[in-house]
Amino acid sequence: MTATVPADRISKAAAPDFTRDLDLTTGELRELLELAAMVKRNSSRYSQALAGRSIALLFEKPSLRTRLTFELAIRQLGGFSVGAEARIDAREPLRDVARNLERWVNAIVVRTFGQAVIEELALWSSVPVINALSDSFHPCQALADMMTLQEKLGDLRGRTLAFAGDGNNMAHSLMLSSARLGMNFALATPAGFGPDPAVVEQAGSLADASGARLSITTNLEEALAGADAVYTDVWASMGQEEEADARQKVFAPYQIDARAVSVAKPGALFMHCLPAKRGLEVTDAVIESSSSVVFDQAENRLHAQKALLLMML
Ligand code: CP
Repeated sequence: MTATVPADRISKAAAPDFTRDLDLTTGELRELLELAAMVKRNSSRYSQALAGRSIALLFEKPSLRTRLTFELAIRQLGGFSVGAEARIDAREPLRDVARNLERWVNAIVVRTFGQAVIEELALWSSVPVINALSDSFHPCQALADMMTLQEKLGDLRGRTLAFAGDGNNMAHSLMLSSARLGMNFALATPAGFGPDPAVVEQAGSLADASGARLSITTNLEEALAGADAVYTDVWASMGQEEEADARQKVFAPYQIDARAVSVAKPGALFMHCLPAKRGLEVTDAVIESSSSVVFDQAENRLHAQKALLLMML
């Protein structure tokens, strides 16, 4: 886990942060997934692990799963949380917000728009900062997704995760996590909506090291062919509501319906981070099918985040 100390703040203690997926080493990711499985099997064993610890939850965007699973995880580990929904830097600079919070809490969980907000808080905070979603990454969701994939498929090396839709924060986090665990990642995205080239380059290096294949295409069938799991996400993320109509037209050919799923492996898993827009990125029949693991993913948010908190605190 990484920590950086600003040059003009020499007294800052080095705290591990989880601002993006690659703040965990591949070894730490594997360790976290093992711990998450253990926590899931025997939750009561960890019921006092965070006794006396407090964690701030700063959410600038709506949330059901992330907010509630963090609150539950903290409480079930014996700690307690405090929350705020206002824009984080509305009243004072982020560096001051960080230096207030570090006097009160043992960790800061942040959901915001710009990745830079999370990184600025992490730079100035002496307690760990955790990314609960930014426009660039959704690393906590990817932890739960890798846990779910391991539960369903076992060793992920040589398996293929196909992602259809926007080259967004979810695509970034899944691409990085799959590549480092040796899982092939095939992305189908319309021209002009591809992932950040810098993230693709990082994922490419990780894939080279693990033996995974990374492919990006505009052709949905090409990406889904033979996939072990098919993943999609909303076409207009939070903050893109005004683009929703235009995006629906561009993304319509990327809908995951029975025909699309039929080119994947028989029985391929269907995955979605939720909330889903049924009838847009996925049909009702696919998300309600026996291959859908969307609620397993949602459950595993709780276990994976408990493991993350245990490792960081
Ligand atoms: N998947 C996810 O992050 O859900 P929420 O937006 O409800 O937290």
